[in-house]
Amino acid sequence: MSSDRLIIFDTTLRDGEQSPGCTMNFQEKLRMAHQLEILGVDVLEAGFPASSQGDFESVQAIARQAGPKIQICGLARCMHSDIARCWEAIKDAANPRIHTFLSTSDLHMTYKLRKTPEQVIEMIADCVAYAVSLTPNVEFSCEDASRSDKDFLCRACGTAIAAGATTINLPDTVGYAEPAEYAELIDYVIRNTPGAEKAIFSVHCHDDLGLGVANSLAALKVGVRQIEGALCGIGERAGNAAIEEVAMNVVVRKDYFGLETNIDTEQIYPSCRLLSMIIGKPIPNNKAIIGANAFAHESGIHQDGMIKNRQTYEIMTPASVGRTETNLVIGKHSGRNAIRVKFEALGYKLSDEQLQTVFEAVKELADRKKTIYDEDLMAMVQEKIYRQPDVYRLRHVSVQSSDSGGIPPTAAVIMDVKGEERSHAGFGVGPVDAVFNVIADMVGRHPDLDNYSINAITGGTDALGEVTVRISENGFSAVGRGAHPDVITASAKAYVNALNHLEEIERSGRRVHSQDGYGEN
Ligand code: KIV
Ligand code: ZN
Repeated sequence: MSSDRLIIFDTTLRDGEQSPGCTMNFQEKLRMAHQLEILGVDVLEAGFPASSQGDFESVQAIARQAGPKIQICGLARCMHSDIARCWEAIKDAANPRIHTFLSTSDLHMTYKLRKTPEQVIEMIADCVAYAVSLTPNVEFSCEDASRSDKDFLCRACGTAIAAGATTINLPDTVGYAEPAEYAELIDYVIRNTPGAEKAIFSVHCHDDLGLGVANSLAALKVGVRQIEGALCGIGERAGNAAIEEVAMNVVVRKDYFGLETNIDTEQIYPSCRLLSMIIGKPIPNNKAIIGANAFAHESGIHQDGMIKNRQTYEIMTPASVGRTETNLVIGKHSGRNAIRVKFEALGYKLSDEQLQTVFEAVKELADRKKTIYDEDLMAMVQEKIYRQPDVYRLRHVSVQSSDSGGIPPTAAVIMDVKGEERSHAGFGVGPVDAVFNVIADMVGRHPDLDNYSINAITGGTDALGEVTVRISENGFSAVGRGAHPDVITASAKAYVNALNHLEEIERSGRRVHSQDGYGEN
């Protein structure tokens, strides 16, 4: 089934969110899903409902908020209980899709599944038919397809199509394939699978060798019409193919691919920026399409060329990927309407109540800071609106630094712990260590600090410092962020935020997504 329309399948909230450091809370997932809809992805894989109660609830909420154009997909292992749970989560979407998968490589069948090829074929026939009894929109993935025997792959795909699957995905699960070789394998499968003309073929490429996007694009030349990927390329291990790179390749090189997508490319930068804010990972400066340097021309020869004719060194415009500056300057005297318009330009549609909250926060920030940048506003909305109700709340922090000898760095903190105000003071080897020790004593838990990073959100000495921390305890791990012009306060906020996330993650019982566990069928 080949056409000139490329289906973009986004798995930022499933494969992306399950990767270390990319965990999002319920509100953040809903916000991200809404933005992905605005971006124009065709299929949104909202999560893996059987993996935890938290995932189930967020997939269900995303399904319920989604409009009629987007397909909301849930992942399910090839087992009835997973498929039933997936359907329960997505059935309220206007356009639901069940995505079920099973490994087809000898390696996975032997060691991971402990099933014979015949048993695998039976499971595919049985489970795809069960999924099709719930919805006609069923995708089947042959996990580890790129390392599977090509004739067995044809049998597995033929079985899934005969059982009613309408999309067949051939993932490069471990990022092992090379572009020409992968395209050749897919070409073979499409030519030799019984009923192939009834299905749309799809790819899902991991980036272990840095070829996720290249492999995905190579597959287009042999008839693949769905590409799966994640914003900013997040995902298991080295990540997935980056959606923004796939989309811009198809748009900029329409002459080469001859395909159309539904992506509103001007929403690319706002979407990636939102993701980066939510997961607390800055976009690298040299990142294709969205990095700060992607449109910066430094060398004299290049600058000269750009002045004479932009096309000499620019293959796409910053505006085409949404890197436009809104010239509405926000400050002390801005009214509610200007603030609303500004947030809309940044991609945030706020309710009246949310607008009032950010309006007050803007006034407060404007008292402390001369220039308010877009990044400050985005950090603010993230902190004030999308954060879950907290069990721990920081009220005041005061620190005494010291260079050497004498009194060690000292911190005093006042905070709410599960509704009760507490105060405490203590020491550390540095001011941040002192603050973290005091907070840890107050909440009565001492998680490991796995990572601490600090970033100036904008230029200038009055810039907001944005701190990201990762902590872990008892096999659970959580990320926290905090922004404040005082970097010690930003650190304290980030630590408290991480502790709140840790509590939330423990409550939802989600350690790491497990895609194994077959045999419980
Ligand atoms: O990488 C992979 O094979 C997957 C499947 C579940 C599609 O993520
Ligand atoms: Zn994957």
